Amino acid sequence: MTKNIVITVSGKGGVGKTTFSALLLQVLIKNNKNLDILVVDADPDSNLPDLLGIEVPRCDTVGGAAFSLKKQIEKGTIPPGTTKQQILESDVFKILKEEDDFDLLTMGRCEGDGCYCFPNQLLTGIVDSLSNNYNITLMDMEAGLEHLSRRTARDVDIMFIITDPSQMGIKTAERIKELTKEVNISFKKMFIVGNRFTPEMEEKLKASAKKIGIEFAGIIPQDEQISEFNFLGKPITGLKDSEAYKAVENIARKIGLVNHN
Ligand SMILES: Nc1ncnc2c1ncn2[C@@H]1O[C@H](COP(=O)(O)OP(=O)(O)OP(=O)(O)O)[C@@H](O)[C@H]1O
Ligand SMILES: [Mg+2]
Repeated sequence: MTKNIVITVSGKGGVGKTTFSALLLQVLIKNNKNLDILVVDADPDSNLPDLLGIEVPRCDTVGGAAFSLKKQIEKGTIPPGTTKQQILESDVFKILKEEDDFDLLTMGRCEGDGCYCFPNQLLTGIVDSLSNNYNITLMDMEAGLEHLSRRTARDVDIMFIITDPSQMGIKTAERIKELTKEVNISFKKMFIVGNRFTPEMEEKLKASAKKIGIEFAGIIPQDEQISEFNFLGKPITGLKDSEAYKAVENIARKIGLVNHN
């Protein structure tokens, strides 16, 4: 496995980005035992930690670190001789959650801080430097397109664009593809994934993907186990036999993220 692969998961709101990210993480862990994986929950409203069964206190997040740094700057309490960068670096180690099989960095939000420009800037900087220490960085992005124009530096190796079987999902995928040409980031590979698709709809998605010019990666079915776990608030980390898990494993295999058995 090559080092420092950055994977992002984008798409319209509610299409299954976080579910896909959580399942892909399980697939990567199961199939590649010795990978160092950084998971980034880059959506301030996201619930990826919940899906992974991890509790992240509200302020143990990039948003929280940004907020406290901003307060220190405003109050002038940054110790002389200390740079903002140094404070941030030590904060990052406090907010980075070390799990058995991966580390988790959460964007989050912290009370009182309405603007996300600063936390977003910080997140970009943090991910750029942190990702060099990991084999894979997997980023669950916020819905829509805005995150694309915000990111400035790190190139992305694999961008998954998730869509549900709706014209709006496909249109968002198309707009994301268009935007990637305009921003200052290179996206080496871009794949479309159909979530909650029936096998009958697969060919239609393939045709749409071809039209837009995004490679088709596969489909994930509607999975009642996911619905049930979601309803009960149970983490989906235990769903190794579910249809959706198997579909994500097939996708990862197809595009070479995990080996063929
Ligand atoms: N294949 C599936 N089968 C059943 N339920 C699913 C499936 N995929 C996603 N869901 C459900 O759909 C809802 C939205 O999924 P998810 O949170 O992953 O979407 P999202 O794109 O991350 O949303 P947001 O844009 O709000 O971040 C959740 O309740 C999730 O459990
Ligand atoms: Mg999400």
